[in-house]
Amino acid sequence: MPATIVIGAQWGDEGKGRVADWLAAESDVVARYAGGDNAGHTVYVGSTVFKLHLLPSGILRERAVCLLGNGTVINPVNMLREIEDVRATGVEITPERLLISTRAHIITPAHIAQDAASEKERGADKIGTTLRGIGPAYTDKTNRSGLRAGQMADPEAFADALYKHTSAANVRLIRDGHEPIDPQKSAENYIDAAYKLKPYLCDTSAYLNGRLREGARILCEGAQGTMLDLDHGDYPFVTSSSPTVGGALTGLGIGAKWVDRVVGVGKAFSTRVGSGPFPTEVEGELATRLRGTGENFWDEFGTTTGRPRRCGWLDIIMLKYSVDVNGFTELVLTKLDVLSGLNALTIGVGYEIDGTLLYAMPMTTADQARVKPVYEQLPGWDEPLGHARTWSDLPEAARAYIDRIAELLEIPINTVSVGPERDQLVQR
Ligand code: IMP
Repeated sequence: MPATIVIGAQWGDEGKGRVADWLAAESDVVARYAGGDNAGHTVYVGSTVFKLHLLPSGILRERAVCLLGNGTVINPVNMLREIEDVRATGVEITPERLLISTRAHIITPAHIAQDAASEKERGADKIGTTLRGIGPAYTDKTNRSGLRAGQMADPEAFADALYKHTSAANVRLIRDGHEPIDPQKSAENYIDAAYKLKPYLCDTSAYLNGRLREGARILCEGAQGTMLDLDHGDYPFVTSSSPTVGGALTGLGIGAKWVDRVVGVGKAFSTRVGSGPFPTEVEGELATRLRGTGENFWDEFGTTTGRPRRCGWLDIIMLKYSVDVNGFTELVLTKLDVLSGLNALTIGVGYEIDGTLLYAMPMTTADQARVKPVYEQLPGWDEPLGHARTWSDLPEAARAYIDRIAELLEIPINTVSVGPERDQLVQR
């Protein structure tokens, strides 16, 4: 298995962190290919809960080398803080174990200010971003005016470039009535981070290709999810990178010939944070029941922002689209245990729009926001699933639920998660 890609099949928060952690156990390198610290990957090891934002989940497996590819965007100050936090729990993080692509782009304080400013300007039509500066950093990348991580190799020159970048951004911020950023202070904070991160810089594409030629196993770890993809998600309510399969190749600089497994991660129901269409969304008591109270770290509250997630039933039409866009070779279904105790389970199997039935994604985001789901009901089960370790430990109704989803999506589902702990994964 040279390269495996792990991708969120829905709107992010599917439990990719724990699935990546599981697959990382048999990987030599774990490589993040897109996004920045907008992501929140929760991994539970022993009694420690790790909330990773930028570090690949493989950092928690001793043997894996971890890297951040050219497709990621890095806030150097937050990156250092995360390294220090994880290191404080006893995890070894050295420049031998963590590599940062010289081609990754830098998120600056001005990007964060611009993110907040643009959300404010959008008013009621806001995207609901994580306010981490992701959109403006990718905008500068495509505008060919961004700062790249490789510039940190010369921290003084990097600070000068940052000073100029901040001053230019201030002109626009002031023009549009927003608070400017102190360019001197930004440069000072970033220069310190640059000195500390310099040893981690690497041509990660060359590194990965060298390792692939040697026969190493690479896990490509995605962030966010298919419906948040800049091209394939419900634009404009998306992130600014490519969490889908093509983003893995572009975001790491490796060829398709190495990839033989594309693992989709889907939650057994649906959640979304931020604005945008969500056809199978539910409200009231049921939403509260699916979301949890927030007391447990696995409840449906944003890992990065703490926002309560919108909750709903599984949407097969959206998942089918996700299977097509990514070419998943299998789907891992997470959080099946949350459905215990619901009398009947509902899955969206079609859409109705203006009296017409639709069994594919509508062409526009506006239509996706108007569709009414066509539902199918399946029997529920009462038993808690947390202790299940083999397929036969799962109640018959739970197995029937999984099998119906696999049948509708026409891909195998051989792994489900029944709790946050490492061993709460059940394989067929
Ligand atoms: P941004 O990535 O901060 O620009 O946010 C754009 C959209 O993506 C918003 O709806 C966010 O809530 C959503 N988003 C970004 N990162 C994540 C994630 O890791 N999980 C779920 N949603 C996310």
